[in-house]
Amino acid sequence: MNCDPPQFTYANFGNAFLTKYCSSCHGFTQQDMQADPTVFIDVAVTSTYMPLSTTTPSRAERMAFGMWLSCGAP
Ligand code: HEC
Repeated sequence: MNCDPPQFTYANFGNAFLTKYCSSCHGFTQQDMQADPTVFIDVAVTSTYMPLSTTTPSRAERMAFGMWLSCGAP
């Protein structure tokens, strides 16, 4: 995957994704994503365990979340 430059960043993607799909229950920061990206890929990309809500990301949004995390959540 080409992360230089990254397609997805906190500013153009991550912040909005977390706000829309996670912030009603979790207070995740960009630093939390960077500290352990694998955990977040596991729960929200590889599986659809999260979010535990009726508003769920599309498949494309989950893929984008995974790409952002795979690049280290820049
Ligand atoms: C409607 C509330 C809700 C939303 C929205 C939500 N979560 Fe959670 N999440 C929970 C609860 C409750 C738990 C703890 C209970 C459990 O593990 O089943 C949890 C646990 C987790 C865990 C720990 C899992 C583990 O195995 O230890 C992670 C990581 C996580 N959520 C990530 C996310 C991400 C990323 C999003 C957004 C895409 C999200 N959550 C959205 C309620 C929510």
